[in-house]
Amino acid sequence: MRKIDFAPPYIDEDIIAEVTETLRSGWITTGPKVRALEELSAKVFGLEKTVCVNSWSSGAALVFKWLGITKGDEVILPAYTYAATALSVLHAGGTPVMVDVKDDFTIDPEEVKKAITPNTKAVLAVDMGGWPCDYDALNKVIGADEVHNNFNATSDVQEQFGRPVLIADAAHSIGAVYNNRPAVQFADVSIISMHSVKNVTTAEGGIICLSLPEPLDNTETYRWLKVNSMSGQDRDAFAKKRIGSWRYDIVSDGLKANLPDVCAAIGLVQLQKYHSYLLPQRQRVYNHYSNFFSDKGWAIIPDGKTKTAASSHYLYPLRIKDITEEQRDAIIQKIMDRGVSANVHFIPLPMLTVFKERGYNIEDYPNTYKNYACEISLPIYVQLTDEECKYVEEQVENAYIEVVS
Ligand SMILES: Cc1ncc(COP(=O)(O)O)c(C=O)c1O
Repeated sequence: MRKIDFAPPYIDEDIIAEVTETLRSGWITTGPKVRALEELSAKVFGLEKTVCVNSWSSGAALVFKWLGITKGDEVILPAYTYAATALSVLHAGGTPVMVDVKDDFTIDPEEVKKAITPNTKAVLAVDMGGWPCDYDALNKVIGADEVHNNFNATSDVQEQFGRPVLIADAAHSIGAVYNNRPAVQFADVSIISMHSVKNVTTAEGGIICLSLPEPLDNTETYRWLKVNSMSGQDRDAFAKKRIGSWRYDIVSDGLKANLPDVCAAIGLVQLQKYHSYLLPQRQRVYNHYSNFFSDKGWAIIPDGKTKTAASSHYLYPLRIKDITEEQRDAIIQKIMDRGVSANVHFIPLPMLTVFKERGYNIEDYPNTYKNYACEISLPIYVQLTDEECKYVEEQVENAYIEVVS
């Protein structure tokens, strides 16, 4: 029987050579490779500044620290996402305010509008599976005069925004396009994940992308984030080497969130090849599946490209019409029995113990449940061959027929 993995990392000889060179260089933690990855990512995303960190989660902790999120502060986020999105708010001491999603899996701007209060400090919008949120609508909602007038700023940074901050949970978004530009340009701050299953990986890692409105300053904020990603130390290893001095100061109660060079080396090579090779290969798999499923009356194929948006194809969230959650589970079991790894992205937050115990209830999020109950994420990655795609398609079709008819 065939065995098809879900999301193995893409590691080629160039990546092995870059990591090996880094190991031999004697500089394995934050240094030249991180700097190169920050410069390259800023260039690829069309931004002035990006900051590398050791995970999406630590990037979110850093951003919330910068924003001064604290007890009583509310952050609006979708009920349909990975737990880390909401846990980041809990860790900062804030309250996650969950709202429902649209049919395309992304946060519903109308629901955001209804949920805003004077204590809403941020909207944390997720580009689900690499499909961009409706940023035009979200920016309109948070930029409304009424929202601005009622906004209760409790930190200097919040004061400068004068409204809730739009943060993209861009964990899946490298390569996603919105209004013909990289999607990470459309929120004030976007946070990418480079965990091992992501489109670009550093094993564990993240990138904070800055696209700040005036009077905020991207370069000044970059410096703040760098210092506070390194225990609040005023001089990094570069500066110490340059000025030949061992003396340093700790200027704030910073976090330890810096990305090591040995990890950055992987991401650097992947990002160099991303638009010429890695992303087109994901598109190939997307097209293969979509060609097959588009004439199956029972399948809902995920969005790939419209006039305003294009997916990064991090996931292939296939949905099956008119099935129950139990039938979906049975289909997954059958395809897994035939060697195809599949997943569900995601179990909605209100169905998880940690959030249920805090009073969230899935019945308040009907679209989230509807999308979840019939969703099956199929394998999508660079190394998946056309022949393997065909095998996956056959197993899904056979399993559907067996379970549903
Ligand atoms: C939507 C979303 N947000 C946040 C995260 C957390 O990323 P990390 O593991 O880099 O902290 C993930 C990880 O899979 C995710 O899928």
